[in-house]
Amino acid sequence: MCGIVGYVGSKSAVEILLDGLEQLEYRGYDSSGIALKCNDSINVYKAVGKLKNLREVLSNHTQEVNGANIGIGHIRWATHGAPTVVNAHPHTCNCGNLVVVHNGIIENYKELKEKLEALGCEFRSQTDTETVAHLVAQKYAQTKDLTKAVQLATKEIEGAYALAIMHNDEPDKLVITKRNAPLVVGIGEKEYYAASDIPAFIKHTNKAVYLSDNQVATITKDSLVIEDENGNNVPLKIEQLPWESVALSKMGYKHFMLKEIHEQPDVIRNILSGKLHTSLAPVELAEVMLTKESLKELNRIQIIACGTSLHAAMIGKYIIEDFCSIPVDVEASSEYIYRKTVTDDKTLVIGVSQSGETADTLTAIKQAKSRGSHILIITNRPDSAMAREADSLLSVNAGIEVSVAATKSYIAQLISFYLLAVYMAEIKGSKDANYLTKFKSDMLLLPQKIEEILAHKEVIQNCARKYSGTRDFIYIARGINYPTALEGALKLKEISYINATGYPAGELKHGPIAMLDDTMPVLSVLMKGNVYEKILSNSEEARARNARMIALTNSTDEKLNDLFDFIIKVPDVNELLSPIISIVPLQLIAYYIAEFLGKDVDQPRNLAKSVTVE
Ligand code: G6P
Repeated sequence: MCGIVGYVGSKSAVEILLDGLEQLEYRGYDSSGIALKCNDSINVYKAVGKLKNLREVLSNHTQEVNGANIGIGHIRWATHGAPTVVNAHPHTCNCGNLVVVHNGIIENYKELKEKLEALGCEFRSQTDTETVAHLVAQKYAQTKDLTKAVQLATKEIEGAYALAIMHNDEPDKLVITKRNAPLVVGIGEKEYYAASDIPAFIKHTNKAVYLSDNQVATITKDSLVIEDENGNNVPLKIEQLPWESVALSKMGYKHFMLKEIHEQPDVIRNILSGKLHTSLAPVELAEVMLTKESLKELNRIQIIACGTSLHAAMIGKYIIEDFCSIPVDVEASSEYIYRKTVTDDKTLVIGVSQSGETADTLTAIKQAKSRGSHILIITNRPDSAMAREADSLLSVNAGIEVSVAATKSYIAQLISFYLLAVYMAEIKGSKDANYLTKFKSDMLLLPQKIEEILAHKEVIQNCARKYSGTRDFIYIARGINYPTALEGALKLKEISYINATGYPAGELKHGPIAMLDDTMPVLSVLMKGNVYEKILSNSEEARARNARMIALTNSTDEKLNDLFDFIIKVPDVNELLSPIISIVPLQLIAYYIAEFLGKDVDQPRNLAKSVTVE
């Protein structure tokens, strides 16, 4: 977690760094800081809370900071030590000549700290990062060369890190390095940017070099030199970046989340184009590198993911088992990595991740890969660490997602699973061909159906207004929409802090029903199909306990009016595709409730979009 930025060039660094940090706020935002080379010293400025607080601090120092053309910055999501000014980055060595910003976790920081204290270093913060400042300063005292000092220091560091470091004795130089955390260098005209992610500099340049683990880059305004950990030169692999900076604007919407919800129809069109042209042709997934024979021989699939991606994975399981008759296990990555998991070369392991950087999923993927399984990654970031581990890479192309609460990337993951399931079923011949043709033509209609929902969003807004005063919220569903209930509840708790829980409707009577009374809203995801009547009965049970009943349904059954206080109607759709339709009103309910409550929708407290720590 956390975001780091760096700049070296001829322009004033302060605004470039602040703007870069603003673009990285999705990575954390409980405190921030920057270090700038001003006249004779490197000055550090920090603030707790949102970036605007740092801007305020800096507004009192405009004269001294405006002339600086080199600096580093950090936006923090606290892991070690509370979000305080002392714990905010940059951290310095005792004399203040060396400054460092860090994303990741130094796992052996306690041992390092003991050694460094024995050498006379005085620690001021509770962070793991401060050890890096002291350690590199010690190495610098021996080598008088910042690049070499960083190379020596990182050999002693265990854990994950992206680091940007400056030293007052080499005032034109920025040294950066990484291991198991993202770091990219943007290349401008006689200027360079360093950042945890490309939005930090995309408006200045779309030329970049991704650093690999253990490489160290030494950057001045005239040169970029990359070496491996032993000082051997590494040739620069310059890439043209795909993102447009316009993707980072709210385009007139009040929040990124609302914009991203509205982008969903186009996101679906985008993924389908090139893969599913017409219902009569087979799905084309050239990205799947398994041969048809090995695909037919697969005996199990494991899907690993976290958060919203985990809910997409649960729907993936449902659809793959139905279409391909292959057993599928879904597991939270954080659980997968700390037990004996059974995989072999006939197991396909699928990692799902919006960011492609989530540490738990990355570790799980590496673990499965080492056991010889084929690794298929479904991600929104083809440039991510997970993508680089992939044997097959399904890029969901949802465009950059800024709001911390995932919306369009979830829809894109679901569509990817549908495509994959149809693709595999067509190769295996495991599902009736006529059924698949109808299914594919239904898939092609999904964007219009979401547009219909968005065109009538006032109903959902009214629902949100009516229930915004509640402290608890229950979502129930069954079958393929059970994960929809989980995801709807997750969205609400993430951005409104209301205690929301999703249950399989059949489980209500085994405990949760005890919580029901006339203060408790219960939202039933009631989509026509296999389990419709069952959920209806479960909803009756809840109504009988006086719960405040809400239906999200594509049914026109009149009797629903007696059972439910509020009904949100959605377009009719094949039951197996209904999670794509049913999640949109739930995203909107969460959005509008959070908005009514005046919450910080795009940057909810305690969360971060990309969680690069285990
Ligand atoms: C964080 C985000 C969630 C996200 C989860 C998994 O917790 O706040 O919105 O679902 O990480 O992220 P990934 O990038 O792996 O999908």
